[in-house]
Amino acid sequence: MAKPKVFATHELFEDARQILGENCEMEYWAKAERPPREELLRRVQGKEGLICLLTEKINDEFLRAAPKLRIVANVAVGFDNIDVAACTKHGVAATNTPGVLDETTADFAWTLLMAVARRLGEGEALARSGNWKGWDLDQLVGTDVWGKTLGIVGFGRIGRAVARRAGGFQMKVIYTDALRVPESVEKELNAAFCDMNTLLAESDFISVHVPLLPETRGLFDSPKFYRMKPTAFLINTSRGPVVDEAALVAALEERKIAGAALDVYENEPFIHPGLKRANVVLAPHIASASLETRTKMACIAANNVVSLFAGQRPPNILNPEVLKAT
Ligand code: GLV
Repeated sequence: MAKPKVFATHELFEDARQILGENCEMEYWAKAERPPREELLRRVQGKEGLICLLTEKINDEFLRAAPKLRIVANVAVGFDNIDVAACTKHGVAATNTPGVLDETTADFAWTLLMAVARRLGEGEALARSGNWKGWDLDQLVGTDVWGKTLGIVGFGRIGRAVARRAGGFQMKVIYTDALRVPESVEKELNAAFCDMNTLLAESDFISVHVPLLPETRGLFDSPKFYRMKPTAFLINTSRGPVVDEAALVAALEERKIAGAALDVYENEPFIHPGLKRANVVLAPHIASASLETRTKMACIAANNVVSLFAGQRPPNILNPEVLKAT
């Protein structure tokens, strides 16, 4: 039997390529830059499967260009780049890669938190500059992390993994979410539920871990920054549009908050010029970027594709109703 034709918008990692090579007729996008839209629409014609990154917008236009498509496998846990309802309408399964990146992303939220609190970006620039004159008592004094209050917005897998790490820093952990987690989880993580306004008022560090949804777009707006302590920091490793960047820049300029550390932006790869300031740590969307985790993510996407073509339910299907239709 002919193998299904699958296009991957990235070369992926060797382990994933092996899984795919045995089961699919593969075509890979091999250039370093992301594929231009027209090229993508051309290459996906006649393909039954697609493995894509979060930089590719999978919408009705895309799906119309690929009438044979049966699955879109995102190599990411967030899937705001995919119009899942449009996929369902076209009978296309959509999948993501949950579970494997929680700890790695939590590590990175902490990397950012520590970096902004202790002014690592500024320190690194000084150390490399050739202008460092040696130890000084008030040089690059930052803010203590240990013993402070950490506020977590969104207490899913990643938010909880961030909370777990706070124990080592003797921090008080508070969280807010649409749903309160079971008491046993709160106890285990030493985390207390509160409403958003309490979290804003009490936290020294706020780390954001919500998915991008219509109700979380622009969640961090001007009124929220005004409720934060002027000594507090915002950490965002979720999705850029969860934070209103113009409002964040204004809050930083007006010293309504002490600083921010960001891995994600409203219009990636564009970064608002007002964010390029000393008290903001900027990273280029790399929270899940360890070799181990990115390899696992690619393998999960590959397995989702292979499962579908083997007549099985893809483990991470987002719209299982399409399976019933076939
Ligand atoms: C990365 O941002 C992801 O959603 O996996």
